[in-house]
Amino acid sequence: MTDFWKNFNGPVFSLAPMEDVTDTVFRETVMTMTSPGNLHVMMTEFSSVEGLNHPVGRKRVAERLVVNDSERKLLKELNIKLVAQIWGLNPEIYHNVSRWITEEYDFDGIDINMGCPVKKVVKMGACSALIDQPDRAAEIIHAVKSATHLPVSVKTRTGISRHDTERWIPFLLQQNPAAVILHGRTQRMQSEGEADWAQMALAVRLRNDMGLKTPIHGNGDILSMAQGLEKVTETGVDGIMVGRGIFYNPWFFSPEKTMATMEERIEKLLFHTRLFESTWQGKKNFNILKRFYKIYLNSFPGAAHMRAEIMETNNYEEVYAYFQSTDCTPARKTRSGGDYTD
Ligand SMILES: Cc1cc2nc3c(=O)[nH]c(=O)nc-3n(C[C@H](O)[C@H](O)[C@H](O)COP(=O)(O)O)c2cc1C
Repeated sequence: MTDFWKNFNGPVFSLAPMEDVTDTVFRETVMTMTSPGNLHVMMTEFSSVEGLNHPVGRKRVAERLVVNDSERKLLKELNIKLVAQIWGLNPEIYHNVSRWITEEYDFDGIDINMGCPVKKVVKMGACSALIDQPDRAAEIIHAVKSATHLPVSVKTRTGISRHDTERWIPFLLQQNPAAVILHGRTQRMQSEGEADWAQMALAVRLRNDMGLKTPIHGNGDILSMAQGLEKVTETGVDGIMVGRGIFYNPWFFSPEKTMATMEERIEKLLFHTRLFESTWQGKKNFNILKRFYKIYLNSFPGAAHMRAEIMETNNYEEVYAYFQSTDCTPARKTRSGGDYTD
């Protein structure tokens, strides 16, 4: 297996792992709005190795690793790599689960989460808490690398209570991961404040000073491909990982598409809903899906009203019936005009 992280020509764009967001359904939906050549890597939601190692827990956690055939087809067509992201505590369990994932699935890489700041996981000493436990972090990286032929990357933050890039990044690079994805916030910052891109530039300088070529990808607050490319120029990172930017514009990876019409937005909402229902068949609560509706229903008159009304639906049929019954004509636009910014 080649190390795809090192085989890109030019800046790489990736879609960030997001729990309860980047499942097979969302990833496929995003790909239907992506122009070829603009998105290179996607990641699954983070999946607990301890959960995957548990005879009962495995079934539930493994839902995060599901890849529909229709998603697989698009990944091939668009030449996008798919990486399984894992997290946990015990290096031996990391090792066993990484071997199992490699044998049972068809991922292009494995990413270790050393960035999640959520109290529950940090208390256990996992994810971003590993920034302050370098020995354990190293042990985990080696446990995963020795279990798989797939490239093993690490997604992390700049520190715990303050930026610690100067210590943490060289240490990580010494463990020879296939790539480092750096979110420019500390654990303490959670999602607050601004991502500090100067830390990304620092990480790149430190890597260069070590004479290494390990790709470093920057992450945090990127709202357009153009902005991402500016950051590449400014900081020297090899790629940009996009998280919440996709919520503001699901056509993020088709920058030539300046403004999607209401019809296009509704069509995507219906596609997403239909795929959600056929994929999960009741295993995931329909309400999870409703959080996505804001992504589609905005930037046109009456969008806020539609969003409020659609909250009453319980399945695809009802969503479809709602749009059938809705008169999305200019008359309606006049009636509820003025809320273009909703
Ligand atoms: C809803 C949500 C879920 C997330 N879940 C994960 C996750 O499973 N694994 C991970 O490494 N980061 C996770 N993150 C963090 C993102 O991957 C990303 O690092 C962060 O949102 C900053 O990037 P952005 O400013 O482009 O959103 C999550 C973020 C959000 C908003």
